[in-house]
Amino acid sequence: MKTLIIVAHPDLQNSRINRALADTMREQPDTTVHVLDELYQDKSIDVTHEQGLLERHDRIIFQYPLYWYSTPPLLKQWFDEVLAYGWAFGPGGEHLKGKEIGIAISTAGTAASYQPGGYNLFTIRDIAKPMEALANYVGAHYLPPFAIHNANYITDEQIAISQEAYVDHLRSVKHVQTSGLVTINK
Ligand SMILES: Cc1cc2nc3c(=O)[nH]c(=O)nc-3n(C[C@H](O)[C@H](O)[C@H](O)COP(=O)(O)O)c2cc1C
Repeated sequence: MKTLIIVAHPDLQNSRINRALADTMREQPDTTVHVLDELYQDKSIDVTHEQGLLERHDRIIFQYPLYWYSTPPLLKQWFDEVLAYGWAFGPGGEHLKGKEIGIAISTAGTAASYQPGGYNLFTIRDIAKPMEALANYVGAHYLPPFAIHNANYITDEQIAISQEAYVDHLRSVKHVQTSGLVTINK
């Protein structure tokens, strides 16, 4: 299984969590770490190159800090341009079919805040539903999310534990087979 970690972070040099997680992933076998913001400082994404990378991997993990409950802007642009009609969906658009897609995100909010009743109202799984829908739309299997919280207060020791947890997560995580689309028409 070949894993592609697509990292989106506008300031990875000053990142604590995502930089540490990316460094850990660089040491893993059969794993490619691909930092979008380093490659595309001019925001001009090489779509053919990105699609080729995706084709050569079985599992794709989008790793990013949560920005307004969503992705940083370059990753959104990447989705818009790389997941093209006729390649990712539509006629001939089957290049991601059967692959695994997952997310690894960091948040400033605490774990408790990302629970029902918490000040962020929703769980990470709920907030990341667009990613789940995206995976479904391109025929990929969605993996349960991996999240590191409390970014402003996390200690170096906790980051080290998170690095190990990230490796363990990717070693053990499995997609859940869904039964497909159900339309209730009442
Ligand atoms: C523009 C912006 C929007 C953010 N939005 C959220 C958010 O919606 N929820 C949250 O918990 N943290 C939010 N944060 C905090 C980041 O997620 C946090 O700084 C990041 O995960 C830290 O990771 P790093 O150490 O890799 O930089 C936001 C930060 C910025 C700069």
